[in-house]
Amino acid sequence: MSNKLIAGNWKMNGSLAANEALVKAMLAGIGQPSAEVALCAPSPYLAQLQSLLQGSPIAWGSQDVSAHEQGAYTGEVSVGMLKDFGCRYAIVGHSERRQYHGETDELVAAKAQRALSAGVTPIVCVGETLAEREANETEAVVKRQLAAVIHTVGHCITEIVVAYEPVWAIGTGKTATPEQAQAVHAVLRAQLAAATTNSKRVHILYGGSMNAANAATLLAQPDIDGGLIGGASLKAADFLQIVAAAA
Ligand code: PGA
Repeated sequence: MSNKLIAGNWKMNGSLAANEALVKAMLAGIGQPSAEVALCAPSPYLAQLQSLLQGSPIAWGSQDVSAHEQGAYTGEVSVGMLKDFGCRYAIVGHSERRQYHGETDELVAAKAQRALSAGVTPIVCVGETLAEREANETEAVVKRQLAAVIHTVGHCITEIVVAYEPVWAIGTGKTATPEQAQAVHAVLRAQLAAATTNSKRVHILYGGSMNAANAATLLAQPDIDGGLIGGASLKAADFLQIVAAAA
């Protein structure tokens, strides 16, 4: 495994002024990180991130991408547009999009493929709800979600990033224990290994209330290759501590 990857997911937060202050504070403290670092912002702010982060050690990305190349899809953002603004990553299949926008496994897989077609790395989110965990369905759910992507992107599977985000841990302050997270990451790694000889190349991130206090133990697990950070990516000091914990 190469360096760990720490990606911030700002969700629907920010403003021109707040973003500038946040990014400048991050850049002032980041130095030369030994982890890869990225920030995923709402689409209107991608141009701002491009100008603030160009030439810095922090990459940037979107929180979604259209499955379509271009055309009559009002409200959608194409991967070509993301490329125009220098995006390196696109989150796809975040549980908030699966839940509030009815995104299916097939749509998420199509979005991942569309991102790959333009050289943008999809960060494919998978994860079970609390009800699914309590019904012992965690493994089946995450495998079904990842299988759709493997099926659609074929040998390009080595180019994706996977993020395991238990829905019950997102924004709740309830983090999966390192053992719970590692167990699911091992399942995902085995599934990737069955699809490619290069499964170790794929970063599998943990997401769900990762913060400055719990990052180090989560990131010490053998199959946790980084983090997808929501709330804590809105505070420069917390985010930088997570980046430092990934060294
Ligand atoms: P959280 O969000 O860190 O605020 O739990 C993670 C995510 O949704 O990506």
